[in-house]
Amino acid sequence: MPTPTKIKIISLLFMLLLFISGTIDLDDLFDYENQEVPAYIGPELDRQPVDNQVDNKIATLGRVLFYDKKLSSDNSVSCASCHDQNRAFGLTELQGTGVNGLSRRRPMRLVNLRYKKFTELFFWDERTETLEELATQPIKDHVEMGYSGVNGAPVFSDLIGDLEDLAYYSSLFTFAYGDNAITEDRIGRALAQFMRSIQSFDARFDAGYEAVGADDDGANLTVDFPNFTSEENRGKLLFFTDPNLFETERIGGGVGCFHCHSGPGFHFLPEGQNNGVITEIEGDEVLTITKSPSLRDIFGPDGSLNGPLFHNGQAETFDEVVDHYDMLIPNIHSDGRLEILGSNLHLSPTERADLEAFVKTLTGVNIYTDEKYSDPFDADGNIEVIGGTVNIRPAFGTQRVVLFPNPAQNFIKFEGLNAEIYDAEIYDVNGRLVLTAEIFGKTATDVSGLEKGVYSVRIAEKGGEGFVLRKFVKN
Ligand code: HEC
Ligand code: HEC
Repeated sequence: MPTPTKIKIISLLFMLLLFISGTIDLDDLFDYENQEVPAYIGPELDRQPVDNQVDNKIATLGRVLFYDKKLSSDNSVSCASCHDQNRAFGLTELQGTGVNGLSRRRPMRLVNLRYKKFTELFFWDERTETLEELATQPIKDHVEMGYSGVNGAPVFSDLIGDLEDLAYYSSLFTFAYGDNAITEDRIGRALAQFMRSIQSFDARFDAGYEAVGADDDGANLTVDFPNFTSEENRGKLLFFTDPNLFETERIGGGVGCFHCHSGPGFHFLPEGQNNGVITEIEGDEVLTITKSPSLRDIFGPDGSLNGPLFHNGQAETFDEVVDHYDMLIPNIHSDGRLEILGSNLHLSPTERADLEAFVKTLTGVNIYTDEKYSDPFDADGNIEVIGGTVNIRPAFGTQRVVLFPNPAQNFIKFEGLNAEIYDAEIYDVNGRLVLTAEIFGKTATDVSGLEKGVYSVRIAEKGGEGFVLRKFVKN
């Protein structure tokens, strides 16, 4: 019988193994450049600058930078510390923990930032115009990543000096830009490219919109979608139609959300004003919040919120969001369109449930599981760059193993395995081992017992050293 301490140590080892990945193969890059987008995303919606178009080499460097804790002054925080793939690059906690304290506002989800109709200006108060300009700001922010120069803190040129000493950046910068010079401009461009490549277009909403003849001006959004339940279609109609008011009270019709969160991107137009949420987390009054992240993926694939909502996290449930719009209190910076909603929406419990059911159809799967958006470092923060100029290729570990169907219902299969027998270990988002299975060729693994959510699978060669890590969503 193993003692409890032994069990603890063993599970700790598993946790560590789980997070080992740590290889970038320059001869086998992921596709960031030519990802599929729905037909309603035409070239006119592509807002990437002509001089920084997504390129697989530079986006690969961007992925490494995004997950690298060495970009913070005490090596403890990366962009991903506050922008977590398991939460659509947002965070479940109210505030992000930086090197010198907590973020003043909620970290925003990073979804479809490449496209107009998803986002225009950046940050809750729209103070930044481009992702290139934004990308290095968190690094120089005293609270977030600490290269601020404040009270003797190091500055950006110190960071560059440190990065120059890392062999993997020498390989990655040379591969991406032709020589190994590390500059703030190059870091910003690479991070911007990686963030622009993060996309979520496989929600049930997208399938439904496609089915009724999707168009980028939002035509046909009020037509019933064939793949929706009647509850979801009713919720969609509420979202996309105006209320009928008697004086300032709603007596019927929709609830007018689309005026500000316009479909099909569910983003916020740049000319918008405040929606009445006016306190900072620390209690100060703020009237300059004029942006919301896209309403896509506010819920995770398991149906739970990806984090509290609004810039101050005041809504811990979707119902509390509805409470806010149900009884609006105007201020001098209120957006004029709030008048369309009147002072009281009087939403019935059924209408509230319908609206929530609709908003849940805006959640995808791929953004949570795609390996090209995932952490490339191992548990110790190490990474190995292979290929390109060097050519060492481990037997198993960089192989393209694909899980399907993803999302899975009762069974999951593994494609791309060439040996006979593998061991699979399935972990939940908290790193707990929830299922072990042996995989024989293309046989399916029963996952019907798992709860809804995002899972990681560690697939190892029987008796071998190599393994791969993949993610899937259980529905
Ligand atoms: C300590 C937590 C924290 C860290 C670390 C962090 N962020 Fe953020 N991020 C935030 C918060 C909070 C906001 C909203 C800030 C605001 O509006 O004032 C935000 C907003 C953003 C936005 C704006 C999204 C939009 O739709 O407007 C982008 C892009 C972004 N962060 C990228 C990054 C990158 C790149 C890094 C790493 C270099 C990074 N963040 C590191 C907390 C963090
Ligand atoms: C007048 C414009 C306007 C209208 C109308 C509007 N919103 Fe908003 N919405 C905003 C703004 C601005 C924010 C960001 C406010 C903040 O965080 O302080 C926001 C934030 C949100 C958020 C939080 C997003 C996040 O990531 O935290 C949700 C959810 C939301 N709105 C849902 C709705 C629903 C549902 C309706 C219809 C009942 C609606 N909104 C109508 C402007 C509007």
